[in-house]
Amino acid sequence: MDRQRAIEILNKHLTTENLVKHSYAVEAVMKALAERIAPDEVEEWSITGLLHDLDADLVDYRENPELHGPKTVEILKEEEFGNERMYHAILAHNQETGTPITNEFDRCLYAADPITGFITAIALVYPDKKLSSVKVKSITKRMKELRFAAGANREAMRSIEKLDIPFPEFAKLSLEAMQQIADVLGL
Ligand SMILES: [Fe+2]
Repeated sequence: MDRQRAIEILNKHLTTENLVKHSYAVEAVMKALAERIAPDEVEEWSITGLLHDLDADLVDYRENPELHGPKTVEILKEEEFGNERMYHAILAHNQETGTPITNEFDRCLYAADPITGFITAIALVYPDKKLSSVKVKSITKRMKELRFAAGANREAMRSIEKLDIPFPEFAKLSLEAMQQIADVLGL
């Protein structure tokens, strides 16, 4: 799978700046997760992270939540890019599609998606708005404050524990992955 081609597809279909940044953040977290639990699949997992929200400018999530995912798969097939495993993970990351989470790959995308927005929200609380100010402790603490970044799905993030990765470890891995591309994320 060719990352350069994936970036071309991303830029062609997704233009909202924050969504593009979110795509890079999920790519970084998926890469770190794959390096830990599926070292032979790093490229597949990373690129899936990069492309998982490809349809986000096209689908009105509030109107038609069940189309978020299927539309991405449609675009990828038109672009002749990706494979069935990737499509399945993209469908399953949005539980509104009714696609079950059936493997580690699906599970990781499901958990990686909300944690990037959650960590971003935590960074923005600091005066310098930098990821370098965020600590793992602040992430675990904010998890319990349900009114903070209420849209970040706690159940999805915590479900990483089904893979025997304790949540604080997932938080650390995700934070460090995002810190490595802080310039791209503008944080
Ligand atoms: Fe996403």
